[in-house]
Amino acid sequence: MSGAASILARLHKMAKASNMNQARWDRLANAFEDTVCDITAVDMNHQMRRLVRRVKLPRRESRLVDLGCGIGTFVKEFGDSFAEIIAVDFAPHILARAKSRQSAPILEKTRWLRMDLAQAARKIGTVADLTVCLNVITSPDEKLRDRLWTSLASVTLPNGFALIVVPSIESAKMVDELPVVQKNSKRRSTPAALVAQGLLNRAGAMQKHFSRGELARILPTYGLTPRRIARAYCPWSEEGLKKPRASAAPYPWDWACLVQRVAASKVAAPRKKKSAGAVR
Ligand SMILES: C[S@@+](CC[C@H](N)C(=O)[O-])C[C@H]1O[C@@H](n2cnc3c(N)ncnc32)[C@H](O)[C@@H]1O
Repeated sequence: MSGAASILARLHKMAKASNMNQARWDRLANAFEDTVCDITAVDMNHQMRRLVRRVKLPRRESRLVDLGCGIGTFVKEFGDSFAEIIAVDFAPHILARAKSRQSAPILEKTRWLRMDLAQAARKIGTVADLTVCLNVITSPDEKLRDRLWTSLASVTLPNGFALIVVPSIESAKMVDELPVVQKNSKRRSTPAALVAQGLLNRAGAMQKHFSRGELARILPTYGLTPRRIARAYCPWSEEGLKKPRASAAPYPWDWACLVQRVAASKVAAPRKKKSAGAVR
């Protein structure tokens, strides 16, 4: 291994070590609202609602699968439109909070499954008219992300839809260029080699950030055709900031992707992808 490659390998190991595992997530259960970006709750431009409106659901028996459901805000907001719901999360205390926040009619039609998303496809099958996966595929570990993308695609019915939200590298750069942030050396301490791959520290953990172009390239490799990739704006407080006097966008944002799984005749085993691609 060359010197540069071995430094990069070491950096990746460090990034993976700071990854959020199940125990770390579960410790956030009681403080979820204060510490975790719950995009459905904070969505400044109602992007979730706009994208859900574009989903064509069967008249009857429509099924929602929420992968990494957190405290169940999406299920609570949109569950009424579905006949059946499966909500999955690997963190037991978070899942318990999700259940405790639902109305009786939603509880009646929802199965709450404590499991790793990577196993979801094998355990629940290809069942979803709409799969949602909001700010979950953020691990710095590319192999783990590959397993989650594969599982998400496999859970979604052919011609079915998926709504995916991921952190935006363009937004992170916009925020990091603000003078107020430039003064704060802590935010800029991530090695450039990791930043170039979209790996940035967010709320104390390394998280994969995606560019719009990278998403447009990655999604089809899993048989997911992008129908719309749009900004879901979050309040400045999510970045630990007050509204700055001048910035390139009104708010920081995540990428919200509405995708459709290719038709049954074209569904193949998801291909191994070549690389995460360069960040624009
Ligand atoms: C950032 S939170 C997002 C929660 C929710 N989707 C939302 O938008 O508020 C990530 C959630 O995914 C769960 N999670 C992360 N990786 C997971 C995995 N591999 N399997 C199952 N759940 C996972 C965490 O426990 C946490 O509840």
